[in-house]
Amino acid sequence: MDIVKIGLLGCGVVGSGVVKQLLRNQDEIAMNTGCRFEIKRILVRDLNKQRSLDLPREIFTDQAEDILNDPEIQIVVELMGGIEPAKNYILAAFAKGKNVVTANKDVLAAHGQEIFAAAAEYEKDIRFEASVAGGIPIIQPLKESLAGNRIKRVLGIVNGTTNYILTKMSMEGKDFAEALTEAQELGYAEADPSADVDGLDAARKIAILASIAFRTRVSFDQVYVEGIRNISTLDIAYAKELGYTIKLLGVAQEVDGEVDVRVHPVLIPDRHPLASVNDVYNAVFVEGDAVGQTMFFGPGAGEFPTASSVVGDIMAVGKHVRLGITGRLTGCTCYYHKHIRSIGRLNCSYYLRLLVQDQPGVLAKIAGVLAEHQVSIASVLQKRTLAHLAEIVIVTHQVIEADFRAAMAEIRDLPPVDKVDSVIRVESGE
Ligand code: NAP
Ligand code: HSE
Repeated sequence: MDIVKIGLLGCGVVGSGVVKQLLRNQDEIAMNTGCRFEIKRILVRDLNKQRSLDLPREIFTDQAEDILNDPEIQIVVELMGGIEPAKNYILAAFAKGKNVVTANKDVLAAHGQEIFAAAAEYEKDIRFEASVAGGIPIIQPLKESLAGNRIKRVLGIVNGTTNYILTKMSMEGKDFAEALTEAQELGYAEADPSADVDGLDAARKIAILASIAFRTRVSFDQVYVEGIRNISTLDIAYAKELGYTIKLLGVAQEVDGEVDVRVHPVLIPDRHPLASVNDVYNAVFVEGDAVGQTMFFGPGAGEFPTASSVVGDIMAVGKHVRLGITGRLTGCTCYYHKHIRSIGRLNCSYYLRLLVQDQPGVLAKIAGVLAEHQVSIASVLQKRTLAHLAEIVIVTHQVIEADFRAAMAEIRDLPPVDKVDSVIRVESGE
């Protein structure tokens, strides 16, 4: 049986899972692929760190060249994370005739074009299933199983940490700070949680999904991003009363030949399948012209779920190595150069919560400004008064975001308006 030698760049949470999974299921993996995978070297930063792996010490190295310059290694598995040196190592791996499997959304969302061009130039495979939604198969299904569809829309809960925080706020009434602390204590959120709670992690993932779904390169810096720091338990309670759940969504859709791609909190109808995706789970909802609506659900992170995707990629590349067909089947699918639609052109409904003077005519004034900007009101709630202030919640019909923003700028300046506390987009679910 053919032996395919692997070099791992990184052996942390995901790398350890990959090593254990390759060893645990080695016979099944060999039967499926027709080759045995041998982990030849593993790059780590700290050679003295204790590792719970049944491997000889000599396998570990702190010199990337030990892997990149080893002619026997045919697959480099990059599980270090971050942009550099990961990007240079990936490019060097192709130049040295190696195939690459990676879980690194940071580098793909920022430098995908360069990486795919290098894979094509050297006729090598690049696979990255684990880079979006950890253990959920979504990259290959979009690239292969759904390839016959024209994809209309992709909606994703692609960040487990923020989904956990919003779930705790919604189900247990915890405020944002409490829920974040709990997520940190459980190891979901980093000590610096900004990549998760400010939506950056989700933006990287939706950039990758949008690139595949709409067959055009979308990079991280083209994604409009808002995080969840300003979501309050009050908004969650009002949303519930109106029949919605608040989720942080990555949204990508094609509108008039342009790509609308964004990450922000959304009020999603309770009946929508994404509304019941809770805790750290992820889900990606895809609408295609043939398949209709379909949802991919599962664990978006963690040692073994993520290793599941990485090992699947290693096996696919191993088969191509064995058959001598690397670089032929897994190339870049960004055939078009579609324009990215600006957020101002979004057509959407909005939820807004504001505090106003509790006086006659105030609501009429606000409605008047909204009407001047073609913003039509779908519903209004007034439940609480705080001293002399009334709290009003308005949900609009669909409007152009630029018109809505112009209306809000005027409303903020109206004398009876004390404060606009929240503005959140509403996903119709249609
Ligand atoms: P991690 O636990 O921090 O592990 C990183 C590994 O890379 C460690 O072994 C570290 O060495 C090594 N490393 C980092 N920088 C290095 C450098 N400059 N030189 C040599 N070695 C270096 O990270 P992880 O959670 O496994 O994540 C790995 C990748 O998977 C990232 O791209 C991440 O976004 C992606 N991912 C992770 C998850 C998840 O659940 N964790 C899910 C989906 C995707 P030491 O061990 O010596 O520190
Ligand atoms: N930090 C990510 C999340 C997992 O919370 O979903 C790694 O992509």
